Amino acid sequence: MAFLDKHAILEKSPTLLLTASLLVVTVGGIVEIAPLFWLENTIEEVEGVRPYSPLELAGRDIYIREGCYVCHSQMIRPMRDEVERYGHYSLAAESMYDHPFQWGSKRTGPDLARVGGRYSDAWHVDHLMDPQSVVPESVMPKYAFLADTPIEGEHIEALLSTHRLVGVPYSDEQIEMAEADFRVQADPDGDWDGLEERYPGVVISNFDGQPQLTEMDALIAYLQILGTMVDFSTFTPDASR
Ligand code: HEC
Repeated sequence: MAFLDKHAILEKSPTLLLTASLLVVTVGGIVEIAPLFWLENTIEEVEGVRPYSPLELAGRDIYIREGCYVCHSQMIRPMRDEVERYGHYSLAAESMYDHPFQWGSKRTGPDLARVGGRYSDAWHVDHLMDPQSVVPESVMPKYAFLADTPIEGEHIEALLSTHRLVGVPYSDEQIEMAEADFRVQADPDGDWDGLEERYPGVVISNFDGQPQLTEMDALIAYLQILGTMVDFSTFTPDASR
């Protein structure tokens, strides 16, 4: 008991108690968090996951700017109801090039982690212009202005470089070609062979149906790639991780 009584010394001095608690929390924190920075398998790499194409990345910025994440998560949990509704549960690797990631639990609208390819581009245009025109009971706001807002690629090279700075493995070639790739993804008549080589599985389409490149194009390019990079017909999870 005599040893336990010494705890009273800590409890009687706020400064000592605070210092001691901080020490305990620090040790706990280091033990839990530090290894993650060195473990090679913190994120299991999965075939098919690639950095976003320039247009997709620009669309992702619009998604974040407009606060779509306030109503939509991008994280399918491994529960049966979610998997049946949305598809295969989300893998950490699918968000490995997301800075910041778009997980979450706030779902005023459905999870969007696998919305890519579920609807046509034209459906997305109608839905974003006026959600109630396709889902009458929807509480989603209208985003029609995106179709009237032209988007220029002048900062796209810098955007890719910034993502490289935080660890996304964009190659020199990808950064050099960023502006051209950005434009050609929304131009099915363009020369997009290089784009497809640099970003396998990229969706090439005039997303909003208008001749000029708009924020609507970028946002739909982003939505259409979500959750489509991994081929789940061949994917087997590694249970040892
Ligand atoms: C106020 C909450 C709210 C915000 C903000 C919001 N949404 Fe939604 N969204 C919803 C709701 C509710 C639905 C379900 C009804 C519907 O389809 O409109 C939905 C549906 C969707 C769907 C169809 C998903 C599916 O699987 O059927 C997409 C795609 C979508 N939203 C994209 C977006 C994008 C992109 C943004 C940002 C530009 C956005 N949403 C902002 C509430 C919101």
